Amino acid sequence: MFRVSAPGQRRLLAGLSLVLARLCCCSAAAANVPNIAVYFGTKTRYEEVNRHLLRDVLAVNASVLKPPPTERCSPVHLTAVIRHGSRYPTVKNVRRINRLSELVRTEASRAPGGWLLDLQSRWETWYTEDMDGQLVTKGREELQQLARRLASLFPSLLSEENVRKRRVSFVSSSKHRCVSSVEAFQEGLWQHWGPSGETPAYSHRVEDELMRFFERCRGFVEGVENNRTALLEVEKFKHGEQMEAVRRRIAEMLGLPFHRLTPDLLEAAFFLCSYELSIKSLHSPWCFLFSETDAKVLEYKSDLKQYWKRSHGHAISSLASCPLFHHVFRTLDKAGRPRRSTEAAPEPASILVGHAETLLPLLSLLGLYKDETPPTASNYQSQHGKRNDGYRSVRDEELKSDPGSAESAGAFWIRTWESSLTRPVFTGRTFRTSRIVPYAANLLFVLYDCQRGPRLQMLLNETPLRFPDLPEDAPLYRDVRAAYRHLLDGCDFHTECEGRAGGRGPSTEL
Ligand SMILES: *[C@@H]1O[C@H](CO)[C@@H](O)[C@H](O)[C@H]1NC(C)=O
Ligand SMILES: *[C@@H]1O[C@H](CO)[C@@H](O)[C@H](O)[C@H]1NC(C)=O
Repeated sequence: MFRVSAPGQRRLLAGLSLVLARLCCCSAAAANVPNIAVYFGTKTRYEEVNRHLLRDVLAVNASVLKPPPTERCSPVHLTAVIRHGSRYPTVKNVRRINRLSELVRTEASRAPGGWLLDLQSRWETWYTEDMDGQLVTKGREELQQLARRLASLFPSLLSEENVRKRRVSFVSSSKHRCVSSVEAFQEGLWQHWGPSGETPAYSHRVEDELMRFFERCRGFVEGVENNRTALLEVEKFKHGEQMEAVRRRIAEMLGLPFHRLTPDLLEAAFFLCSYELSIKSLHSPWCFLFSETDAKVLEYKSDLKQYWKRSHGHAISSLASCPLFHHVFRTLDKAGRPRRSTEAAPEPASILVGHAETLLPLLSLLGLYKDETPPTASNYQSQHGKRNDGYRSVRDEELKSDPGSAESAGAFWIRTWESSLTRPVFTGRTFRTSRIVPYAANLLFVLYDCQRGPRLQMLLNETPLRFPDLPEDAPLYRDVRAAYRHLLDGCDFHTECEGRAGGRGPSTEL
């Protein structure tokens, strides 16, 4: 530290606050956000996906609800599958972070100077194992704010009366961060209605069969989760040329021998930048290590992992979500059924809180974000090209110009594949977990009562999301059911999850 006289100190402070004020007013929230924040995969903040929330966390855009303007429709049911909010690192990552900071601390004494010293003087580890994935204050706020926005968007469904009379169901995974999130959601609703007498009690049930199906599915646990060959692409990429180049550059900046900065420790440094932003809203000194190009490589690494572990990489990963799929459709069936006036009104809303590992399999089962070319260790270059909606946008355009087009999806694939032989079709991928499952990610199913019958719309992170092969934002519910007939009639958890591991001794109760 250097000494400054009292008047000097005052001048210094005045100067500093001027600079800070300048920084703050040019772009209040953006000034302090690293430009790599949009590449944090499942550790991305929700506001990176919905930038308008940086200005107003309660902003609601009612035009995202898109029943056909030619029909009179009103929403009659909302099912929301929601990921918990921002959280502390889990034990595994706390250990990695502490190993990294230990490495940096010891190496610094041997090779003082440069970047390392700067990092050491400005940063000290503060992560402890007991934090183990718990929801942080910011995460609690995310769920409160989401609840308030949904209550504004669906005032007749998430109404005070419906919640007080317990007509809305709340379900959570047993993990602490999810239970805290479902509580925070309820707090948000109470905040929305304003103070009115006593605070109601929380009401939710824990159902891991629905929200943590993945750990109960033997076919998944044995065939994917504990199977090293199932994630071969991830391992290859981890030790491939792109990751090595990033490691080499960053080891050099830190003054570390290349071999000491393992892929896991490199990732820990990247996660540190993400955690300090999502937990403390800090632009951590760790962030300055990474260029945007580096961040894209690390994002790809975690997308590869999610793709091969939780999504289209192996069918069993999505089939494990069959219980949740059936639960959602049973709820929608009940809500859309015509009923006599004497019958009890159906459930107006169902709030289900789980994990990224809950949402990704369900989205995959529904056929979403399935790119033509799977991401692998060797096609990094073609997977992160310019904006690309791949298969679906091309087909949407064709259906728009010729709504009667009866060409099947299969025929379309073949035609696209044939034409790809003569011209490059697309680069880039739609499967980007930074966009799909940030903290507080949410998949909404909105059922409308319309003149021609019930209609269903999906929204992901409050943005309309179409069903594959259905050309409307809110198709007739019976058309959605027809599109998923094969799953509605099958998709049996026990057949899928126990059947596949056959020939490995008697089935045991999980
Ligand atoms: C509101 O949502 C609609 C439909 O998604 C979109 O076209 C429009 O740009 C949004 N408006 C604002 C102000 O974000
Ligand atoms: C492990 O994964 C590979 C590749 O997906 C697969 O061929 C193999 O059957 C799996 N092993 C087990 C025990 O399920």
